[in-house]
Amino acid sequence: MSIKTVAIIGCGIGRSHIVEGYLPHPDKFKVATLCDLNEERLKQIGDEFGIDKRTTSFAEVLADDSIDIVDICTPPGIHLEQVVAALQAGKHVICEKPLTGSLAGVDQIMRVEKTARGVLMPIFQYRYGDGVEKAKRIIEARIAGRPYMGSVETFWLRTPDYYAVPWRGKWATELGGVLVTHALHLHDMLLHLMGPASRVFGRVATRVNDIEVEDCASASLLMQNGAFVSLSCTLGSQQEISRLRLHFENVTFESNHEAYSPGKDPWTILAANDRVQREIDAVIGDWQPVAPRFTTQMAHFHAHLEGRGPLPVSTQDARRALELVTAIYQSSDSGQDIPLPIGADSPKYADWRARTQ
Ligand SMILES: NC(=O)c1ccc[n+]([C@@H]2O[C@H](COP(=O)([O-])OP(=O)(O)OC[C@H]3O[C@@H](n4cnc5c(N)ncnc54)[C@H](O)[C@@H]3O)[C@@H](O)[C@H]2O)c1
Repeated sequence: MSIKTVAIIGCGIGRSHIVEGYLPHPDKFKVATLCDLNEERLKQIGDEFGIDKRTTSFAEVLADDSIDIVDICTPPGIHLEQVVAALQAGKHVICEKPLTGSLAGVDQIMRVEKTARGVLMPIFQYRYGDGVEKAKRIIEARIAGRPYMGSVETFWLRTPDYYAVPWRGKWATELGGVLVTHALHLHDMLLHLMGPASRVFGRVATRVNDIEVEDCASASLLMQNGAFVSLSCTLGSQQEISRLRLHFENVTFESNHEAYSPGKDPWTILAANDRVQREIDAVIGDWQPVAPRFTTQMAHFHAHLEGRGPLPVSTQDARRALELVTAIYQSSDSGQDIPLPIGADSPKYADWRARTQ
């Protein structure tokens, strides 16, 4: 097994990637370089973790042959250009959410991936943890039966000090609000567990903070499998919770309510009867605990690079989540129920922010 050398680009959430994603795996990763435009931050994080190579130049990182993985943790508005440049430089790439701000942008990245030497993994760390992974295993074993209904709640709190960071709250730099930056995680978990949506009706509004982008949204989804799902999200909840509750014919699942780690145990997993419970016990009885969030996502990425497993999160997964965002914005603007997939003929394919410009 080889140790992959990592450069972190952007030392905000990049610090959590170090703590949760890389330090627990010294046999798999070495964070060799930090890149940030903010020299004070570079020094602070570099000193904290003893990372000596520090630079403000992204181009310098791409030109460094000793770097295997470029981990992009910069503001959303520059993800597209940095992902494309890093793939074209022959690097493996990890990119924070949102991968980019339009389906056209994701499709451009997919075209670049076709000829790239490296592999791109978007971040969706909420998929990892004992609770969500047990639910996934039970559903994949076809024990849950027909899906009926789901509700997904992202009830978080953001106050004006959060928006003191200049890129936040603006269409040009954050690319969207609660749908793009916060609820995207829970919505990815839903799609991961219940599959794609086929119709979407949505509403968005800015009600909590004095910002350009939405901070409240609700949507009604018809899934391809026939289930109905309601999504609700706000950044004005005085108690922060995340919650998925999914009702299938044979099993009801409910996540824990921890706002930033709903994938962890305990999940409520209710079987319809003893027979179903025995089937559940048969597939998760020998459960080996998994670490939540970045710890497991990064470990799976390393295994994939070593040829020992699938890519844990693909660009197609990011596309599916961003297609849902596009559909909710399009529905909110038009008052229409939006059919998926969204093609290049959609008014929001090239840029979902079309109404604001
Ligand atoms: N997965 C998660 O749970 C999670 C949590 C927080 C943020 N994020 C995402 O991570 C990204 C960054 O968010 P954040 O909260 O860390 O923001 P932040 O502003 O705290 O940090 C971003 C850093 O990037 C640096 N930067 C900006 N442009 C750069 C460039 N061209 N080259 C190098 N460095 C540059 C900034 O100086 C800053 O230090 C966003 O896309 C955000 O949505 C994800």
